Amino acid sequence: MKPAVVDCRVWWIDPAHAPRWCEELLSEPERARAESIHRRAARRRFTTATALLKVAVAVTSGGSPGGVEIRRACPDCRRLHGRPVLAGGAPYVSLSHSGDRVAVALCADAPVGVDVEQVDAGIDVDAMVPFVLGASEQPAFRAVRSRQARVEAFFRCWTRKEAVLKATGDGLRIPMREVTVGTPYGPARLIGFPGRPELPGTTRIVDLRAEPGYLGAVAVLTARPVRVIELDGRDAFAATAERHGGS
Ligand SMILES: CC(C)(COP(=O)(O)OP(=O)(O)OC[C@H]1O[C@@H](n2cnc3c(N)ncnc32)[C@H](O)[C@@H]1OP(=O)(O)O)[C@@H](O)C(=O)NCCC(=O)NCCS
Repeated sequence: MKPAVVDCRVWWIDPAHAPRWCEELLSEPERARAESIHRRAARRRFTTATALLKVAVAVTSGGSPGGVEIRRACPDCRRLHGRPVLAGGAPYVSLSHSGDRVAVALCADAPVGVDVEQVDAGIDVDAMVPFVLGASEQPAFRAVRSRQARVEAFFRCWTRKEAVLKATGDGLRIPMREVTVGTPYGPARLIGFPGRPELPGTTRIVDLRAEPGYLGAVAVLTARPVRVIELDGRDAFAATAERHGGS
């Protein structure tokens, strides 16, 4: 019998806190992709996220991070990017990186998507609104008078939508404005998704407790209640170092 509640674990880390040896956990193709990323901070985020995903899976399943194979295949160009899927098929995984934050989500029972965004206070939020919010979402947003509150409301909706689009695997192939999540102040929920009327009833969105200056959300494709457990990625690396002699 399936449990009543679906557990979803989200591991957070600042790439500056990831151990040096995390690079050793990357496969050859992953190393090649890391080397192709010119900006140092972005390269570090990719390396940290990939390694954290492997140690998080190992800590959860009791295996070794070296045995965790992540498959990424872009359906458009076949390059090594796109939705991450574990070679064994389970658990479902997702990852996101922005600024100094990396988030990795694991869910044994249902597809998951996670998104973290650094809140960019300087963004021209009013210009972005038509690309991100649907017509039914815009009036509530425009009613927010303070600029700072509008920026936060914008990123709140953004993270919820991107989490859903990652859980479905569509990514930004589906325009964000076509995914409806309603007001940023109410409980997070999916209201509409193009071509899939069943999704609002079978998707849970939970806002994450990201660090100040960041917002995050996770979406799980299930009709059951979801319990999100947020964890410190440093603990996953430390547990791995203890068990497998990383230093
Ligand atoms: C998924 C997507 C919305 C993420 O954008 P982002 O905000 O810049 O980045 P995030 O850090 O939050 O997430 C990146 C991660 O999302 C994951 N991801 C990428 N495509 C995904 C998809 N279709 N579904 C679920 N997850 C996806 C990857 O794990 C990626 O991490 P990686 O770059 O380290 O491999 C965006 O990359 C996208 O829509 N991609 C698909 C469309 C596309 O790129 N088409 C061109 C292909 S040639």
